[in-house]
Amino acid sequence: MGKLDGRTVLITGAARGQGEQEARLFAAEGARVLLTDVLDGPGEALAKELGEERARYVRLDVREEADWAAAVAAAKDAFGKLDGLVNNAGILRFNELVNTPLEEFTEVVRVNQVGAFLGMRAVAPELAAAGGGTIVNTASYVALSGMAYVAAYAATKAAVVGMTRVAALELAARGIRVNAMCPGAVDTPMTNPALLDPDADPAQTAEAVDELYRKAVPLGRIGRPEEVARLALFLSCADSSYITGQPFVIDGGWLAGVQLF
Ligand SMILES: NC(=O)c1ccc[n+]([C@@H]2O[C@H](COP(=O)([O-])OP(=O)(O)OC[C@H]3O[C@@H](n4cnc5c(N)ncnc54)[C@H](O)[C@@H]3O)[C@@H](O)[C@H]2O)c1
Repeated sequence: MGKLDGRTVLITGAARGQGEQEARLFAAEGARVLLTDVLDGPGEALAKELGEERARYVRLDVREEADWAAAVAAAKDAFGKLDGLVNNAGILRFNELVNTPLEEFTEVVRVNQVGAFLGMRAVAPELAAAGGGTIVNTASYVALSGMAYVAAYAATKAAVVGMTRVAALELAARGIRVNAMCPGAVDTPMTNPALLDPDADPAQTAEAVDELYRKAVPLGRIGRPEEVARLALFLSCADSSYITGQPFVIDGGWLAGVQLF
């Protein structure tokens, strides 16, 4: 028996990174998953690998209201209902606050913050119609702590935590639980663009990443996307049945405090 037997979950940004691992784990736990992204090739390939019974792919740019309406319709068409959402899609831009162009700031807001808002707004009525469900938003540990050079990103992730609490309050009576994940550093193309570079030496890249996080993170390493997927599973299944409105830090202890040695 899977922890998500009988459930149908829409995952954004599911073509790679954490979204891909969430899709794989949710399907393995019995869910039918609607994979969505703007990376059509990898998204379609993953859906094909998971099989038509379990997974479908549709293009969904989380900034676009019309795409959300179409994706919700596609989920119901393919699987009959929708009772879970993982708002995972996101982008990261590094810049000093005083040098951040308005267009860059706005672009990060549109994907990370407006995208999560549109997702909850489009999907919540379907979850209510299905008799209840779960929403898992992906924030970041920088929603709870500062980090230089990520003003736009930190602002949007704090907003995601804020919206998570509001949505939890408003949707509880309809049987919908809403929580947020706050990952630290996780080994995906977002933090490690060398993963996408065919010319990069994988051994050299892995060594540089290991060296960086060995000292910074109490558990001594960068996180794996599979580990974040397991938190998303916990927050999407009955194991978390009495939990709503909370941000969950998953960071190897990075936010626990200052490390002197
Ligand atoms: N990797 C980390 O260290 C880390 C830490 C904290 C939070 N996060 C958050 O985790 C989530 C997943 O990131 P990841 O690490 O897997 O990175 P990633 O870059 O590998 O994956 C992000 C996915 O989002 C998709 N995406 C981007 N813009 C989109 C749009 N407009 N519409 C739909 N999809 C879009 C991308 O195509 C990609 O598949 C993000 O919200 C990110 O902010 C990541």
